[in-house]
Amino acid sequence: MIMINEIAKNIEKHLKALREFTSTCGNGVTRFPFTKEAKMAVQYLEDEMKKIGLKTRIDESGAIIGRLEGKEKRTIIIGSHYDSVKYGGEFDGIAGIVCGLEVARLLKEKDFSSKYSVEIIGTNDEEGARFKSGFFSSKAMLGQLKVSDLEAFKDSDNISIYDAMKDYGLNPDRIYEAKRNLEDIKAFLEIHIEQGPVLEKHGKDIGIVDTIVGMQRYMVNIQGRADHAGTTPMDMRIDAVEVAAKVISNIGDIARTYKNAVATVGSINVFPNEINTIAQNVSFSIDIRSTKQEAVNSIYQKIKEWIENITSKYNSKYSITSTLSINPVDMNEGLKDKIEKSCIERKFLYEHINSGAGHDSLPMAEAVDTAMIFVPSKAGRSHSKEEFTSYEHLAKAALVALDAIVNI
Ligand code: GLV
Ligand code: MN
Ligand code: MN
Repeated sequence: MIMINEIAKNIEKHLKALREFTSTCGNGVTRFPFTKEAKMAVQYLEDEMKKIGLKTRIDESGAIIGRLEGKEKRTIIIGSHYDSVKYGGEFDGIAGIVCGLEVARLLKEKDFSSKYSVEIIGTNDEEGARFKSGFFSSKAMLGQLKVSDLEAFKDSDNISIYDAMKDYGLNPDRIYEAKRNLEDIKAFLEIHIEQGPVLEKHGKDIGIVDTIVGMQRYMVNIQGRADHAGTTPMDMRIDAVEVAAKVISNIGDIARTYKNAVATVGSINVFPNEINTIAQNVSFSIDIRSTKQEAVNSIYQKIKEWIENITSKYNSKYSITSTLSINPVDMNEGLKDKIEKSCIERKFLYEHINSGAGHDSLPMAEAVDTAMIFVPSKAGRSHSKEEFTSYEHLAKAALVALDAIVNI
């Protein structure tokens, strides 16, 4: 119990320090990729890794990595992301890195040992909040990013990932160097807050993730015609806001006809966004998720048909760009067994759970043995400044991850 308190205190200290690295002080954590807040968080993490005695490096995607050499070169990677959504919480992502720091500290200082080398990772731009993309470091590690992708994704100020990286001091032309030799990765482990209400409601300490939802993301552009709002008769206008509103208002209902599927329009932009000008353009995001790939595909098809239907009725045009497509993925059974064994031995209350949120573990699991450990979120709140997870629960997750690493 003393050890849990000690770990919890360290986790609390780190998280309270890291929450200061936000661009929206007093209104949650906003830590977008390739910003000064991101750089400060990375610096903090690197300093802490060095204090523990890890060998640190920052990869070409901006991920911070601290390595503990084992008898084997093959490596168990444990971590999560340091970026956040806009006005997000102080736990999403970064809590998993901080738990990893504690795992590394315990491996160094106490009587634990791992056959494999261990790396603590803080990944960059998992959320996709700035460039509407996401999973940046994990995709880079898997060799899935091309320089042309970095040029294609732009933020709301029209700055591409490519230019943002250059400004930040990274070389976008070398992104391919972040690719890992997958043979060298023994396992990928991620501790993350649940971001939903289930574990707390069931009184559990730990969630063992079975499946992470598949997700598809799109940007839709509805084209209208900019005209005078007062002089253009209702039957002679093409109003992009009116058309987009009719499209968007049906998207939730399409998803509701499927079990365990969700679809969200979370970002809308209107051009020129004036009171007395009929909108020329509306662009909006769609995010569709389910543990069943067929459901995601089918929801997308229905949304597309609906867009076609509405735009043709109102003489408007549209385009759809796919920005992300990842299939649902199961976590590794062997790793899940080790996590479960640790929970039983330590008498931590646990249950199996699916993840409705995306995580770096989603793309990673397609290529390497991967497992996720969830911890309860207070009232299920997340992606908001209300987000809270007890430090003791995080400490328990760190211990379970440590046991799993020792037993791999
Ligand atoms: C990340 O939090 C996501 O699920 O979008
Ligand atoms: Mn998130
Ligand atoms: Mn997250």
